[in-house]
Amino acid sequence: MNPDLTKFGEQMSQLTGVRAIMKDISETLRAGADRDLINMSAGNPVILPEVEQLWRDCTADLLSSSEYGEVVCRYGESQGYQPFVDVIKADFNKRYGLNLSDRNILITPGSQCLYFFAANTLGGYTTSGQLKQIVLPLSPDYTGYGGVSLVPESLIAYKPTLDLDATAHRFKYRPDFSQLEINENAGCVIFSRPCNPTGNVLTEDEVKKIAAMAAPYDVPVFVDSAYAPPYPALNFTDMTPIFGGNIIHCMSLSKAGLPGERIGIAIGDERTIQILQSFQTNLCIHSSRYGQAIAARAIASGALAEIAETVIRPYYQQKFTVLETTLDRAMPKDLPWFLHRGEGAIFAWMWFQDLPMTDWELYQELKKVGVIAVPGSSFFPGLREDWKHKHECIRLSLTASDEAIEMGMERLAKVVEKVFQGVIA
Ligand SMILES: Cc1ncc(COP(=O)(O)O)c(C=O)c1O
Repeated sequence: MNPDLTKFGEQMSQLTGVRAIMKDISETLRAGADRDLINMSAGNPVILPEVEQLWRDCTADLLSSSEYGEVVCRYGESQGYQPFVDVIKADFNKRYGLNLSDRNILITPGSQCLYFFAANTLGGYTTSGQLKQIVLPLSPDYTGYGGVSLVPESLIAYKPTLDLDATAHRFKYRPDFSQLEINENAGCVIFSRPCNPTGNVLTEDEVKKIAAMAAPYDVPVFVDSAYAPPYPALNFTDMTPIFGGNIIHCMSLSKAGLPGERIGIAIGDERTIQILQSFQTNLCIHSSRYGQAIAARAIASGALAEIAETVIRPYYQQKFTVLETTLDRAMPKDLPWFLHRGEGAIFAWMWFQDLPMTDWELYQELKKVGVIAVPGSSFFPGLREDWKHKHECIRLSLTASDEAIEMGMERLAKVVEKVFQGVIA
């Protein structure tokens, strides 16, 4: 069958961003099953034994409780499973001195879904025909934002400024407030903090400044906190979540060990939450209650926050240290390579200034030596201008073993050296 597709059908049946190259990556991995391929492309978190055990224990507790039937044999409220909503409310009120009510909280089937609701209720054409923008204030950012809008022309991203430390071969992106525009054309603002792919953490001042720019126009600011404290706490630098006003704090339990259960959490302004909730009811009724029931146990006991800080964070932080130490040792000092400051998340981001080939060609060269990275150009959704920098970066995942990361970075150093020498063209 070859059914006619609608405009939305055409669009939603395309894979965007990194998902479009995942096919090439999985074919490479399959074809190279007998080679010692080092896969540094993975976005899937590592299964850490302590984390898996926590979810097993919570599941055993749920199974033996009278709550079980209520959880899996019944529909519930779209807003979320009430005991889970209660636990989130209590935990956040206590932890951050907030005064949240149930109406400030929405549970969604994963946080990706949340951005889809936000992008399509607040971005796109209004009934009067005005195009409302989905503003990404700092590009590069999460590739998944590329596919969330049914009206792709509504997505608009802004180039950052770069803080460079040439001697140390490090850099950091910052929002370029001299360019960033948030005005009556904006529908919502979205950014990740900590950021996938770069590991950047926007400062508190930067977040507040963005929120203040959006506030006069009643524009909600979705802070994608998929890697933030209190869980999974994948921040390697001090950071505090920011609440209130037009900020919608959005979380995910995926990097806290539950990607399969699909749990996203939005905390913020009551009216905005209500709009997202109605969209969710129309779309899929509600998120799975099983995941919410076990997460309620892990959060109420304090175990999840504890494991996040003592197991999940140190695991990835140590991987970043292995990666950066190896790069500092193996990469030629005289080449313009830069590693983004590792402030959080589960990735490292590298920029090769004036790379003599594209990021896609570099990806192909790395494949030849058995290293699978992700070409950086997939991470600039919504950035319309042709910026050379877009084709000079790669993302490396911190999910491989220490030995594999070391070997991978040594191989990368050799390839990059040859590319700059013109030996590989
Ligand atoms: C920054 C960011 N936001 C959102 C998501 C989506 O997470 P989920 O839908 O599993 O909650 C991811 C997944 O990798 C991510 O990296």
